[in-house]
Amino acid sequence: MLDQLEAQSPDALLALIKMHAEDPREDKIDLGVGVYRTNDGATPVFRAIKAAEQRLVDTQDSKSYLGPEGDTGFVHALKPYIFGKNATMSGRIEGMQTPGGTGAVRLAVALAKAAGGTRIHLGVPSWPNHAQILQDVGVETTTFHHAKDDGTADIDALLDAIGKARETDAVLLHGCCHNPTGVDYTDEQWEQIAQAFADKGILPILDVAYHGLGHGLEEDVAGVRKVLAKVPEALVAYSCDKNFGLYRDRVGAFYMIAKDASDLPTITSNANALARANWSMPPDHGGAAVRTVLRDEELTRQWLDELGEMRARMRRVRARLAAADNEAPGLNLAALGKQNGLFAMLPLSKDQIARLREDHGVYMAGSGRINVAGLHEGNTPKFIAALADVTKG
Ligand code: LMR
Repeated sequence: MLDQLEAQSPDALLALIKMHAEDPREDKIDLGVGVYRTNDGATPVFRAIKAAEQRLVDTQDSKSYLGPEGDTGFVHALKPYIFGKNATMSGRIEGMQTPGGTGAVRLAVALAKAAGGTRIHLGVPSWPNHAQILQDVGVETTTFHHAKDDGTADIDALLDAIGKARETDAVLLHGCCHNPTGVDYTDEQWEQIAQAFADKGILPILDVAYHGLGHGLEEDVAGVRKVLAKVPEALVAYSCDKNFGLYRDRVGAFYMIAKDASDLPTITSNANALARANWSMPPDHGGAAVRTVLRDEELTRQWLDELGEMRARMRRVRARLAAADNEAPGLNLAALGKQNGLFAMLPLSKDQIARLREDHGVYMAGSGRINVAGLHEGNTPKFIAALADVTKG
């Protein structure tokens, strides 16, 4: 039977990690997979997380099973950061831990399907795994245009998609720091989105994977909060990969907002059953480390400082690229200064992307997405010169 399987191509983004590692050039630049890097190109463990892990080693007295909901202390400790200090939503919200943001997105889509959802609207381009998850869970995907050529969000396309949606549709949106474009909706546009969801009564699925990497922890979820304040029900997928630097520990959370508090036990029982069938329960360690940080004032302050440093460094890189707009005409580098998070899309051809890799040792996704955090004071001039080279007439 197994010989009936057809070969699948490896995930292009993950394959890029290997290609970059095998390139012997000392001045190669990795702008591929979305991990934060310091000015020295490192992706260190957060100091706050190291301290929390040490405390766990010293104090944890059991690794016995938890339930499919994972570490509820972790899930509740994150809530004020995502939903606001007093966002109890009259008891309409419950959460659970998931294996990374991917697990949370998968659970959101599977739960929507179990509730009768048949189709999901997805802004494109999107994180490639979104489409793969939708396909694997078995819901129909319909797409709308996320960003305009001028590097701003195509709000009309989204409002049109919501306006035309069927009752059993859901819309999957990035909460902030859009992957792969970096193009976020403005506050005014989020107001319009919230109103459109409220008027139509369809389910929003909000994926918050880069919280704190745009303008700040409050600012980055202002749009999500606007939607949640207006809609009767919603699902939120959350990742701690980037904002706690826990990538491979797979730390995510999933929140369900119900029409009525009395619906929550049934909704969460379905999410628990889906989690049990998929992964039984999430890995514990990273979530426990985040809970330890967030329950300690000093560690929380340290985490906020570290996150603030990351955000400020990425804004400096964006400003430097925007200032080089004239050096690579046609790429609209100026727009990068107004966009957010780890990613940006450059309108490069496949040939230009191959030349950047082969001639200059610059590695980026085949879509033209760059990880802004792969750039720093040392390599940005080389990157700009490489762009100038491949785009010159
Ligand atoms: C990315 O888009 O580079 C990250 O979210 C990592 C991943 O899992 O794809």
